Amino acid sequence: MTTTLTVLVENTVPGKADGLMGEHGLSVFLERPDRRILFDTGAGAALLHNASLLGKDLRSVDAVVLSHGHKDHTGGLAAALGAIGKPVPVYAHPEIFADRFGKRADGTLRYAGCPFKREALEGMGATFHLSPAFREIAPGVHVTGEVPRRSAYETGDANLFVPRGDQLEPDPFQDDLSMVVEGRGGLTLILGCCHSGLINTLDHVRERMPGKPIHTVIGGTHLGFAPEEQLRQTIATLRARQVQRLGLSHCTGLPAGARLAAEFGDAVAFCNVGYSLALD
Ligand SMILES: [Fe+2]
Ligand SMILES: [Fe+2]
Repeated sequence: MTTTLTVLVENTVPGKADGLMGEHGLSVFLERPDRRILFDTGAGAALLHNASLLGKDLRSVDAVVLSHGHKDHTGGLAAALGAIGKPVPVYAHPEIFADRFGKRADGTLRYAGCPFKREALEGMGATFHLSPAFREIAPGVHVTGEVPRRSAYETGDANLFVPRGDQLEPDPFQDDLSMVVEGRGGLTLILGCCHSGLINTLDHVRERMPGKPIHTVIGGTHLGFAPEEQLRQTIATLRARQVQRLGLSHCTGLPAGARLAAEFGDAVAFCNVGYSLALD
């Protein structure tokens, strides 16, 4: 049973993609004969426009997965629910609606969390299935739930915060999850921003799905905001784990993406708007 993944929202539009819209955010559409799943929704402006141009009918969506609460992944949810037009399950972690902030280069703070209230989204047809657990949401499609932090070097982005009382603390990103799709060629891992760390996430999937190699990883790695040591160790560990295909996008950024492309050659693709991948 072939599964097709199509990037509906991403930061960059390739040169030949007439009329598509780039936006800082991510959304990936999973299509299988029996199932359509929308993984993240972008920031809000690009989703319906790009889905329409790419010929993806969001009325067919059976389920929505939210990788984490950041608004560049949840900001298109209201528009998506309107387009889906029927009650739809939304899978995410219980902390998805937490307030969160990012620090700009000039030191000022910007709100970075989900721009919608849960009740408003429920009024638009969302039925939230919130859990920290690793779980199967459709035959052969899983979400990782909360990812244990094991690697010492995946220290992440120091400019992202959550409020605790009247203080700001580093965002622990308990809500960060990824989606796993089973195929004959192995597992495909679809990342939102992977704030949990790519290697922590790979290790969690390996532990929960033993004996099933992770063949492909696509999505945002957040390596563009990670310290050099994290990038170096991640490259070494990816090589040791023999991941066959890396589809880089979103918060990977150009410098980290270029490093990975130099290291892994033809195994790397840049998954911009309209990128499509068929998994057997
Ligand atoms: Fe992001
Ligand atoms: Fe994020």
